[in-house]
Amino acid sequence: MLNGFFQPKSVAVIGASRNPNKVGHVILKNLLESFKGLVYPVNPNADEILGRKVYPSVLEIKEKVDTAIIAVPAKVVLKVVEECGKKGIRYLLMITSGFGEIGNYDLSKKLLRLLKKYNLLCLGPNILGTLDTRSGFDSLFLPRDRMERPKTGNISFITQSGAVGSAILDLTASEGYGFAKFVSYGNALQIDESDLLEYLGKDKETKIICMYIEGVKDGKKFLKIAKKVAKKKPIIVVKGGVTKAGSKATLSHTGSLAGSAEVYKGVFRQAGIIQADSLEEMFEIAKILDKSIKPKGDGIQVITNGGGHGILCADAIVKSGLKMAKLSKKTVKYLKKIFPSNVIIRNPMDLLGDATDERYKLAIEACLKDKNIDILLVVLLYQTPLVSENIVDILIEANKKKIKPIIVVSTGGDLTKPIRKKLEENDIPCYLFPKNAVRAIRELVRYYLF
Ligand code: COA
Repeated sequence: MLNGFFQPKSVAVIGASRNPNKVGHVILKNLLESFKGLVYPVNPNADEILGRKVYPSVLEIKEKVDTAIIAVPAKVVLKVVEECGKKGIRYLLMITSGFGEIGNYDLSKKLLRLLKKYNLLCLGPNILGTLDTRSGFDSLFLPRDRMERPKTGNISFITQSGAVGSAILDLTASEGYGFAKFVSYGNALQIDESDLLEYLGKDKETKIICMYIEGVKDGKKFLKIAKKVAKKKPIIVVKGGVTKAGSKATLSHTGSLAGSAEVYKGVFRQAGIIQADSLEEMFEIAKILDKSIKPKGDGIQVITNGGGHGILCADAIVKSGLKMAKLSKKTVKYLKKIFPSNVIIRNPMDLLGDATDERYKLAIEACLKDKNIDILLVVLLYQTPLVSENIVDILIEANKKKIKPIIVVSTGGDLTKPIRKKLEENDIPCYLFPKNAVRAIRELVRYYLF
């Protein structure tokens, strides 16, 4: 039902500006660069923009138009919406701000009336736009040289705040995350977070749903839909406005009533939603759910080339209620035979600072065979002299066998970064610190096993 916001066949950009720095111009440019469908610029004050014929009104376009992106000032909005209604355009992306969020409820009411009159579906107002990595529909008003677009993938992101969304998209794109759909929904005058959740719940291209919300418009509706969707795919939520100061700010941001943090927590738990404490945590959880296979149990084996990191992993595992696996006698006997006597063969398994790629390979292979182990947490400190870039291929090969989830912790600076990136590109979730990795593993285990 909401497909027109992501995969329309044709779109009109109303307020397509001649000025390259203006919102309507950036949207038009982005669409022309990436969208596979038809694009119609609309502006009564221009004849041609970016080499395209410009229409004075949508009513002048002869062909069918599925969707309109509205980027004209609030005072012109009702007029252009009326025209969209007459033209038979069904989907409106209302970028324009200046409605309920600044107390202009009268304009909101009038807009709502028009939406009903013409049976229109409207996202916003006060939105950044949407992005669909498969159709190339990019209605975000942010220039591509300022914000990287993510590659095609399985995560979809619903965000009430456009700025939160775009900053996260930019960051996660540079880290190699793959996205299916992105949607900023602003004031949620008509289409709200529950509608979008329901839509993405049914969307075959979406495997994981991330949400940043400031308030839920209709609690009962949200709970009902979230319960259904959470049974099919993971939903991870960050709720903004959980403190007094934060909740005050939500009102002037998107006009949302933030509500009690405890009530939200309860609703999320009841619905089976994963609540993350921060945006960073949300995407760290999304990453493991996206890349990892289902674990058979919660017994984790730590393999490390740094004793301290091993201890920190063990602490984090126990604190989070997960289990440290116990190596089988057979594995211990085998590894004792092939490893130098100073290698510590238990959990954590310390391969020591002089660990080689080969030592890692043998340890990983033995642990993949050991029935006492469900998940491998491999610490890879690239600063030590005898590990080489080949360790990446060893991990990728082991992971490809899809025997057990393999998660990597690799703390380090510029020299470690490409290692992390390559691992992630090959479906191995990689974390900077033990605590972050274990937090994500806990959600993987909870999602599949409890
Ligand atoms: N139909 C189509 N285009 C029209 C029009 C009409 N009826 N009337 C005017 N226009 C044209 C203008 O001529 C202009 O083009 P030009 O620059 O070539 O002259 C273009 O539409 C834009 O109008 P302008 O008055 O220049 O507006 P603007 O670009 O300064 O601002 C918004 C428009 C939508 C960006 C602004 O009102 C707004 O809401 N900004 C905030 C957006 C926001 O933050 N959203 C939430 C993000 S999370």
